[in-house]
Amino acid sequence: MKTPLAQTPPMGWNSWNSFGWNISDKLIRSTADLFVESGLKEAGYEYIIIDDCWSEKQRDEKGRLVPDREKFPEGMKAVADYVHSKGLKFGMYSCAGTHTCAGHPGSFEHEFVDAETFADWGVDYLKYDYCYKPAAADGANLYRRMAMALRSCGRDILFSACNWGADDVYSWIRSSGAQMFRSTGDIQDNWFNVNGIICSQLDKSPYSGSFCHNDMDMLVVGMHGNSDNSEVLGGVVGGCTDIEYKTHFAFWAMMNSPLIIGCDVRKMTDITKLILMNRDIISINQDIECRAPYVIRQWNNPEKVFALIRPLSTGEYAVGLFNLSDKKAEMSLQFYDIGLPVSSGRGLEMYDCYTHSIAGVFTERYVTQLGSHDCAVFKARAVKL
Ligand code: GLA
Repeated sequence: MKTPLAQTPPMGWNSWNSFGWNISDKLIRSTADLFVESGLKEAGYEYIIIDDCWSEKQRDEKGRLVPDREKFPEGMKAVADYVHSKGLKFGMYSCAGTHTCAGHPGSFEHEFVDAETFADWGVDYLKYDYCYKPAAADGANLYRRMAMALRSCGRDILFSACNWGADDVYSWIRSSGAQMFRSTGDIQDNWFNVNGIICSQLDKSPYSGSFCHNDMDMLVVGMHGNSDNSEVLGGVVGGCTDIEYKTHFAFWAMMNSPLIIGCDVRKMTDITKLILMNRDIISINQDIECRAPYVIRQWNNPEKVFALIRPLSTGEYAVGLFNLSDKKAEMSLQFYDIGLPVSSGRGLEMYDCYTHSIAGVFTERYVTQLGSHDCAVFKARAVKL
């Protein structure tokens, strides 16, 4: 039997956060090289995705999309072949409207010819945006159309819907056939924005699952305020601290969001690499059961301090403790709340996903102090005392 696409959340890199319009054949090839050299590929990152601004402003005489002749002088097939030669997969971008968000041709009323073109070029992943959607067109129907076009184009192309959570997307996207769906507006490289995305998605986790994942947007981990996009994003970029990047990554992983890197991988620091390639955090994100976490809030600071809990296929539970507040805070996870009463005669053996070692066996509760904007993540197992 053929394995369906995206059983677990897709992992990769996308050009938009760091490069915006400033993309090229050379950038994509060097990113593919670095995926292999830096260990990203081995850590599970697979897709190299070109976002907006890759095409000429006009289609050709047959109505086909044309790659920008200066940025991609050898065309897209050559880029795809190079990415494939590294054992990686190649992603591209289009839009359900008449134009992409940056004003290039969109796929509206060209869905089938575009899917065919992407298949000819060797594309494995299509991000599909929502700008310039004609007001009279039904959004759900446009995503169904492109899903149909991709599913009949003769090549496996993962369909990454990007309508920013608009039009009640949660209620119809899974049945459209898309493998992931953007649920938020564009992420920005600062804590205020990342924190806002976290708070907006806490109650949305049940909508995500195998074969159709809630995409909370591309990661800003490791950007440190360096983006060619600062102007596009209104100059509100700023950067995050490494602690904030660690928490951002852990939250996306716990929520089963796709992990699509947005930094310039040629400039990753050692700490950025540690965050992005933490095998234990990635294993939680990639757990085959893709179960949604539930939230347990700290009684005296419920808005800002909470735990996310989810069962893993290994018999363990992923436990993420988060402090979104601007001060150090206590988080006390009462085991009763996660189904382990004292009467069970059991405690939790907690494996720390940052030290990669067992922190101990705890009974009744686990209490810790979390620094401002910091988190702790464990894999916990119920054991007899
Ligand atoms: C929208 C999307 C972004 C990016 C840009 C490109 O804003 O949400 O992720 O693709 O368009 O123009």
